[in-house]
Amino acid sequence: MNYFAILFTFSLLSIITFSHALVEDFCVADYTLPNGPAGYSCKDPAKVTFDDFIFKGLSAVGNTSNIYKSCVTPAFSSEFAAFNGLGLAMARLDFDIDGVVALHSHRTSEVLILTQGEIIAGFISTNNTAYYKRLKVGEIMVFPQSLLHFQLNVGKTPAVAIVTLNSAKPGLQFTDNSLFAGNLPVELVEKTMLLGAKQVKRLKKAFGGSMN
Ligand SMILES: *[C@@H]1O[C@H](CO)[C@@H](O)[C@H](O)[C@H]1NC(C)=O
Ligand SMILES: *[C@@H]1O[C@H](CO)[C@@H](O)[C@H](O)[C@H]1NC(C)=O
Repeated sequence: MNYFAILFTFSLLSIITFSHALVEDFCVADYTLPNGPAGYSCKDPAKVTFDDFIFKGLSAVGNTSNIYKSCVTPAFSSEFAAFNGLGLAMARLDFDIDGVVALHSHRTSEVLILTQGEIIAGFISTNNTAYYKRLKVGEIMVFPQSLLHFQLNVGKTPAVAIVTLNSAKPGLQFTDNSLFAGNLPVELVEKTMLLGAKQVKRLKKAFGGSMN
């Protein structure tokens, strides 16, 4: 690489780094103030206490009484104010026996560590190759940014996994919900997914989406 290429790469890196960097040590979210694309406004640092950096929401077992027999408990900046501006988020995944965290994606990458049970976790690349594997306790798996992925319990006991994502607000978009829980008209779901009207209506009803 010549000198200019190195300089160019370095400047580009600095821009990328600076655009995400805080100008303060921390920016604990103040949900009462307006927020912008970069995140929430900061709580007055003079009022920040030790407790602001602790989040207890992932210590509780998630409620898995739903059709997926699973629960995703997020600790994004919208739940854990201290993550605001740090480019980090976490979540807890609880699986009952046969539970599944259905196909979904985020704006970010994700790393998962299995802490209890046995699951199959996988993602699908943009050329439609599925990468999936049965994981044991303590093993970690990475899901490259934005790709569709899933996890399912294949053990004989409930399972628990903890995930970390590289944005304070990574988003969580379930494919089923996007298609069947929202306002995309039945006819457009049919046409864009090559599904029959009967099937679409059945799923829209099950997911509580608009029936028009
Ligand atoms: C779990 O969720 C179900 C369905 O929403 C609800 O009926 C039930 O009360 C919840 N259980 C607990 C312990 O919160
Ligand atoms: C997708 O990419 C992988 C990795 O480069 C390659 O092994 C595979 O053959 C590709 N599959 C298709 C369907 O192009």
